[in-house]
Amino acid sequence: MPAPVISAHQLVKSYKVKGKPDFVAVDGLSFEVAPGESFGLLGPNGAGKSTTMKMIGAVSTRSGGDLQILGLDPDRYGPEIRSRLGVVPQQDNLDGELNARENLYIYGRYFGLSSKVCHERADELLAFAQLEDKAKNKVDQLSGGMKRRLTIARGLINDPRILLLDEPTTGLDPQARHVLWDRLFRLKERGTTLVLTTHYMDEAEQLCDRLIVVDKGRIMAEGTPASLIREHSSREVLEVRFGSDRNAQVAGQLAGIGDRVEVLPDRILIYADNGEAALERVTSLGLEPITSLVRRSSLEDVFLRLTGRSLIE
Ligand SMILES: Nc1ncnc2c1ncn2[C@@H]1O[C@H](COP(=O)(O)OP(=O)(O)O)[C@@H](O)[C@H]1O
Ligand SMILES: [Mg+2]
Repeated sequence: MPAPVISAHQLVKSYKVKGKPDFVAVDGLSFEVAPGESFGLLGPNGAGKSTTMKMIGAVSTRSGGDLQILGLDPDRYGPEIRSRLGVVPQQDNLDGELNARENLYIYGRYFGLSSKVCHERADELLAFAQLEDKAKNKVDQLSGGMKRRLTIARGLINDPRILLLDEPTTGLDPQARHVLWDRLFRLKERGTTLVLTTHYMDEAEQLCDRLIVVDKGRIMAEGTPASLIREHSSREVLEVRFGSDRNAQVAGQLAGIGDRVEVLPDRILIYADNGEAALERVTSLGLEPITSLVRRSSLEDVFLRLTGRSLIE
């Protein structure tokens, strides 16, 4: 096993809150990231994902535990670590007054790269981000997806070994998300280590080799998307709707069908290895759902199982 590029042990971050006990946003996270791996933190809003990313990025100090980035302690080697990471923060912080190419160039200069290297990399990265024809456009004129791609390009200007991406596609439309996923796949293929946070289960399934499911600052589960689903859910899920007034009332009659029944406000989920067979059993009880759907289990189901809550409220 090659040495991990990130290792966190019992990592804690607490925030001071006036007149109250400290608020613990990250509550003892332990994980390692191997070189070239694509590692995810999946969890709802407020889980502590951004707080963790800021500690990894050496822009926020930890309150407890151990943390090593590329073998270095961020408490002592902040500047060295920052110079070797690429960061895509949750909120884009591009300079809206500058054009796309200038944003890349200036950022490279901050890293102390020569003007020649900055010009070369700016062009390469504009091509990588598929923004060549927007090079001269002011950032304020770019779409959300383009800004996100430009922020990723900017994060790559120092040729980092690790790219940190905090909610890379939140707020983007499906098409813009797919373009971005394609770019991130390419980075992964080139061997860049990706650490990303998301509250989209499909994004985690698409991009992550391995992930931790985080809730309230704690790790609920860890594994590959497939192993998490295997461990915490059935193969298939039958979703049935009887109308908002009847779901809860009907649910009692469904006990014993499949491994588990979950009643949500708008639908009932029946966890079963064979969803079609489960549906036959439902209809054999004389129950006629308004709609029914059989699908494969997803990370959303894993999260629901582990926390009793839906990932996206
Ligand atoms: N600077 C801060 N001061 C106090 N509380 C904070 C601060 N930053 C984040 N928090 C709180 O810590 C928790 C985790 O926040 P965050 O890491 O941003 O979660 P996530 O990125 O998973 O949505 C939230 O409850 C948030 O309100
Ligand atoms: Mg966040």
